[in-house]
Amino acid sequence: MNVLAIESSCDETSVSILSNGKILANLVSSQDIHKIYGGVVPELSSRAHLQIIMPLVRRALVDSKIENEKLDLISATAGPGLIGALLVGLTFAKGFAYSLNKPFVPVNHIEGHLFSGFLMDEKPEFPYLSLVVSGGHTLLLLVKSDTEIIKLGNTIDDAAGEAFDKVSKLLGLGYPGGPLIQQAAKNQRTDFINFPVSQCKGEFDFSFSGIKTSVLRFVQKEYGDTSKIPAEHLPLIAASFQKSVVKALVEKTERALKKYDVNSISLAGGVAANKLLREEFAGLANRFNKKLVIPSFEFCGDNAAMIAYRAQKVYEAGYRYDFSFNAYPSLNDYSFIK
Ligand SMILES: Nc1ncnc2c1ncn2[C@@H]1O[C@H](COP(=O)(O)OP(=O)(O)OP(=O)(O)O)[C@@H](O)[C@H]1O
Ligand SMILES: [Mg+2]
Repeated sequence: MNVLAIESSCDETSVSILSNGKILANLVSSQDIHKIYGGVVPELSSRAHLQIIMPLVRRALVDSKIENEKLDLISATAGPGLIGALLVGLTFAKGFAYSLNKPFVPVNHIEGHLFSGFLMDEKPEFPYLSLVVSGGHTLLLLVKSDTEIIKLGNTIDDAAGEAFDKVSKLLGLGYPGGPLIQQAAKNQRTDFINFPVSQCKGEFDFSFSGIKTSVLRFVQKEYGDTSKIPAEHLPLIAASFQKSVVKALVEKTERALKKYDVNSISLAGGVAANKLLREEFAGLANRFNKKLVIPSFEFCGDNAAMIAYRAQKVYEAGYRYDFSFNAYPSLNDYSFIK
């Protein structure tokens, strides 16, 4: 089966072709334009997707030596994400499928991340526990099968990636914040300051907006404002912050591992690229004697290969969609995650 998938939910345009499960193309074009604004500007994102989508689809087809007629399934991310950005990929995919008279499958972006471990050689084994940590979501999920996904925990405010981005901006490090904070924190002691992570009522829920405020208060109290942070303190603040966020993520995952009997653990989404988090998950897997699957770096961030994989699974499970299926902004609008 040849699947062509498009991802355009935020600031990456990606096109992938999966042939019998093998990735023949996975092109990702990142929009640098947002860096000067310190965050994604929705309208600029939609325009940038529009400019690149046609050449990217053509390149993917040429690179993978697959002719249009040989495609069996066309898919695109339908949500959650920025509506204007989603509409570009989704509308293109629908039009392409219609013109070729091929089936079209809309994919939930978070389900794409969730199953991205299956793009690796070593795959998760059901049932598995997955922590999906990205720019807009922080979810602890019990994955029983391709279509049975139980939400154990969620963030009650900011997502983990969002906290990295906001604190990075606050410290004047730039955007996207995760890699910049990780870089600043490299080889630094983590006990410079203890930034507490708020506890939540929900057994497996997360909260990251408090820690962002703690960092802000600390900076204001100690230095007055960001520009006055001594150069030697910046890495120490970054390291302390990173440690606290990772600790909260690992603690809740560990709690779930004690309660649910699973075969594997997986980590997915943009924040899964974080080195400290990956190391801590390796430790968890070791202690609980579970198989650990974390996607390689290129499949942690947004990519269309994970959308193609998910589209095929949904299609094989018997789900069919018509061209009236529309883009949706939030996870709960249409999802297998219950
Ligand atoms: N090394 C890293 N450490 C921590 N965070 C990271 C790292 N690399 C990337 N991130 C974070 O990952 C996020 C981007 O991930 P992703 O592209 O999956 O999010 P998104 O697609 O914008 O949101 P969502 O998937 O929830 O819709 C950003 O918040 C970024 O700061
Ligand atoms: Mg994402």
